[in-house]
Amino acid sequence: MNSTQNNIDSGPEALAEMEPYMNDSGATSSHSDVSDMPMIHFDEVSKLFATGKPALENINLSILPGEFVSLVGASGAGKSTLLKLIYAEEIPTSGIVSFNGRDLSKINRKHLPYYRRNIGTVFQDFKLLPQKTAFENVAYALEVFGRTPEEILDEVPQILDIVGLEEKGRSFPKQLSGGEQQRVALARALILQPKMIIADEPTGNLDPVSAGGIIDLLLEINSLGTTVILATHNQTLVDRIGRRVIALDRGRVISDEMVGRYIMPERRRPRIIA
Ligand SMILES: Nc1ncnc2c1ncn2[C@@H]1O[C@H](COP(=O)(O)OP(=O)(O)O)[C@@H](O)[C@H]1O
Ligand SMILES: [Mg+2]
Repeated sequence: MNSTQNNIDSGPEALAEMEPYMNDSGATSSHSDVSDMPMIHFDEVSKLFATGKPALENINLSILPGEFVSLVGASGAGKSTLLKLIYAEEIPTSGIVSFNGRDLSKINRKHLPYYRRNIGTVFQDFKLLPQKTAFENVAYALEVFGRTPEEILDEVPQILDIVGLEEKGRSFPKQLSGGEQQRVALARALILQPKMIIADEPTGNLDPVSAGGIIDLLLEINSLGTTVILATHNQTLVDRIGRRVIALDRGRVISDEMVGRYIMPERRRPRIIA
């Protein structure tokens, strides 16, 4: 860690320790006492790439700690772009994206890894290292952050157990089913105990049963207090989740229902929320 760091506000310690807001008595908000201070806030956010129409246009939304949010919309609607803004992989063309009140565009590049420790990511294509076993794929995330071999031997089996892969630690990705590979990816995302999981079409390559298993795991992780943002175009899955659904259409939020079902635009035009 850089001890000569003088910009305290954006220093690694501050970024790695973005704790939940404190209430008036100084106590940290718990999951059951959901704070109304957002974890994620989009304020008039637009994102234009060099080519084409805006990927996102005037997005205003807040996500509270502990929420499970499904982000739905057709291919090209802007789901991945929205997640990339949260992960600070992209910065907005205009507007502000903040995490626990911190403007992400102001985080110094070299401090981004510290910010990103708050977030676990899962993708459609799993992104596992093919030459490493399931155990090693999960352990790798811990090694990068300097955990000792003892800590790794203690923590990895616990996480593999949570995702139902206690017997598969020695298997290589190609020896695992798609659903099992995605569970390894989820274990890797969870190993650093992130405050939030962002999952971009995590079930896109899976059969319906495996997909349902991944969603159940995300719900379970959420019930333990981790905020979850799930981007998907799978209507059946979103209907089953029955939590908050934000629908995007060509870069705009066309509906945001606290307990919603994903209604396809062609079947019913969703209510426009200002
Ligand atoms: N790096 C990029 N450069 C140019 N255009 C992009 C880039 N990333 C995304 N887009 C465009 O932005 C729009 C939204 O894309 P995306 O966020 O990937 O949608 P979704 O995840 O909902 O399918 C699309 O029109 C896409 O082509
Ligand atoms: Mg996408």
